Amino acid sequence: MIIAIDGPAASGKGTLARKLAEKFNLAYLDTGSLYRAVGLTLLRQKADPKDPNAALAAARNLDHRLLNDPDLRKEDTGRAASIVAAIPDVRTALLAFQRDFAAKPPQGMAGVVLDGRDIGTVICPDADIKLFISASDEVRARRRTKELQDKGLNVAKESVLADLQDRDKRDSARSDAPLKAADDAHLLDTTELDIETAFARACAIVEQHAAR
Ligand code: DC
Repeated sequence: MIIAIDGPAASGKGTLARKLAEKFNLAYLDTGSLYRAVGLTLLRQKADPKDPNAALAAARNLDHRLLNDPDLRKEDTGRAASIVAAIPDVRTALLAFQRDFAAKPPQGMAGVVLDGRDIGTVICPDADIKLFISASDEVRARRRTKELQDKGLNVAKESVLADLQDRDKRDSARSDAPLKAADDAHLLDTTELDIETAFARACAIVEQHAAR
């Protein structure tokens, strides 16, 4: 079983993806972490994330140890990730890894959950279940601000909101694999839902599919 989950930054898709993977014994790949690792490589090299040659070299030689680096989750890294993600060659360089993961779940797993921006549209267009998770800008900014403050970072919601909107705009406007819902995706708006309710809705969609 392949579950494809897409949506904008801080929509809750990562939490939902992780919880679904655990419940249904599926392997989980956070594809944003691949773009973040490329972005982080460039930041550490003091290279410009817009530099297509440097970004492509980083994507081709991706250091998988970076996927566990605490700096991966920083806001600067997210911004750099969104910039490198707009470079078509970078996307091509990361495509095979994602498709292989989906095609060959690790031993004992019944399938995979991938989350990102283009999973249902480009990476796994034949996924068994597609979810598109959204939430209002205001709610996403509030959630992300709390997450950062809980980590001890001193951030203002206004700057988090501006950053999210900037990223959404870039992720949605790029010509290659923009953020968008696949035509056959189930839409789940989590603006008014807490995580347990959103998870229950997502589980119901998966179970409905499995019962078919
Ligand atoms: O999900 P995230 O915030 O960790 O993703 C970081 C950036 O990576 C995001 O702004 C856009 C990019 N991305 C992408 O273009 N395609 C994906 N499948 C996943 C992430």
